[in-house]
Amino acid sequence: MNVHIHAAPKLVGPAAAFVAAPKKLLIGGQWVPALSGKTTEVIDPSSARVVAHVAEADKADVDAAVKAARAAFEGPWSRMLPAERAKLMWKLADAIDAITDELATLNSLENGKPINDSRKGEVPFTAETFRYFAGWATKINGEQIPISAPGDWHCYTRREPVGVAAQIIPWNFPLSMLAWKIAPALAAGCTVVLKPAEQTPLGALRIGELFAEVGFPDGVVNVITGFGETAGAALSAHPDVDKIAFTGSTDVGKLIARAATGNLKKVSLELGGKSPTIVLPDADLDVAIAGAASAIFFNMGQCCTAGSRLFVHKKVYDRVVEGVAAGAAAMRIGAGLNPETEVGPLISREQFDKVTGFIEDGRRDGAEIVTGGESFGEDGFFVTPTVIAKTRPDMSVIREEIFGPVVCAIPFDTDDLDAIARDANDTAFGLAASLWTRDLGLAHKLAAKVKAGTIWINTHNFNDCALPFGGFKQSGWGRELGAQALDLYTQVKTVAIRLP
Ligand code: NAI
Ligand code: MG
Repeated sequence: MNVHIHAAPKLVGPAAAFVAAPKKLLIGGQWVPALSGKTTEVIDPSSARVVAHVAEADKADVDAAVKAARAAFEGPWSRMLPAERAKLMWKLADAIDAITDELATLNSLENGKPINDSRKGEVPFTAETFRYFAGWATKINGEQIPISAPGDWHCYTRREPVGVAAQIIPWNFPLSMLAWKIAPALAAGCTVVLKPAEQTPLGALRIGELFAEVGFPDGVVNVITGFGETAGAALSAHPDVDKIAFTGSTDVGKLIARAATGNLKKVSLELGGKSPTIVLPDADLDVAIAGAASAIFFNMGQCCTAGSRLFVHKKVYDRVVEGVAAGAAAMRIGAGLNPETEVGPLISREQFDKVTGFIEDGRRDGAEIVTGGESFGEDGFFVTPTVIAKTRPDMSVIREEIFGPVVCAIPFDTDDLDAIARDANDTAFGLAASLWTRDLGLAHKLAAKVKAGTIWINTHNFNDCALPFGGFKQSGWGRELGAQALDLYTQVKTVAIRLP
């Protein structure tokens, strides 16, 4: 049975001071209230209590932010040398590192995730992403291209920044999503209007302060807090936004793609998943069991790449499912700010209702709840790590992205890689997959057959700034991180010169 260690330590120090201070929008280097004067609540998901209020931006604020981003793009930012941009980005990364504890605390307060994951994982990864893309700022170049037309020619391409980038991010990794979006945009020479998720604005507002502190010109990065249906929709439809980058639900991704048609702004989307974890019979089972558990329970399953369908060969199915279930039942549940916590709350009442609803659907449809499936929502939005078995392919727990700590275990009784891949590919999504085997031949062959943007072998949820990340099928458009991310924020101009 899961141990519950509910209590969170009292908030003290710089994070407490930041939470208590008034929150505004960052527009053109100034902190301003929403033009409407409206504010919205930030809730601690481990207690369901309001911890702060932030400005609620609307269309009028979006207009002001886009104007500021445009002015910075046409003005000081376009005159800055690539090496100067790189230095500022590197300084920003150092400034993030310098307040690691404060950012980790804000992140775990508003998101609920275990503080150690924030402190040792997400905050350092956020800083590293800025450093990685700082390196790219000085290495973005076109090509000289020989052509076959008669006469003397000199032809080349330039890679120019797309312009003003609007970026809408979710609440599951509030800080690293910010970095994945802003860092390549700045390296490419774009300016940014960022809208954090309404559930997790605090970390983005704190990092917003650092941009001015380290010397970015006003308006290069603007941060507006507010809701998706209002501020987010206004950004997606805005005629003076050149590019929109989004991470979140597939449904909203489709809305954004539609809204972007007005001025045909460039669109990149990183959407949902229903990623398979596939355990072959020769796998190192201790490693596979720990890996399959972490694939789904890390971040309370609130990962677009969560390993939510666990396919296991019949020969080892019982042992793997028992192992994952035992691991699930042993996890300590509590407030993210408590350093003992391994499983925090879900982000919100809405997600709590959604995830518990899926578990109920599974029960009703006749699936077996092997472990977990309990919830307590009065004082925080907690769901115990859950393993479901005896599912059918048509059940909602198999078809839909649950986005919670809920994994469906599915046995397979074949060594035919095409048959294994067919089951794994039986989904509208295609973000990631993990394969667990000691046989490199099998691993490479199956990696080629599974339709997903990232294939992990003997690991899951592994990201590195240098590795491109994104989705096949309805998991999205475009690739973030790696050199590919720069393609999202640059456009190619061809120059053809007839030499006299
Ligand atoms: P969402 O897609 O509604 O929200 C993500 C971001 O989009 C937030 O900043 C939100 O304000 C914004 N947004 C919402 N509606 C918008 C609109 N009409 N126009 C422009 N921006 C808009 O996701 P939500 O409601 O928080 O979660 C619902 C489901 O989405 C989750 O259960 C999960 O399945 C999926 N999700 C996937 C994520 C991923 O990493 N791929 C992250 C968060 C959610
Ligand atoms: Mg939503």
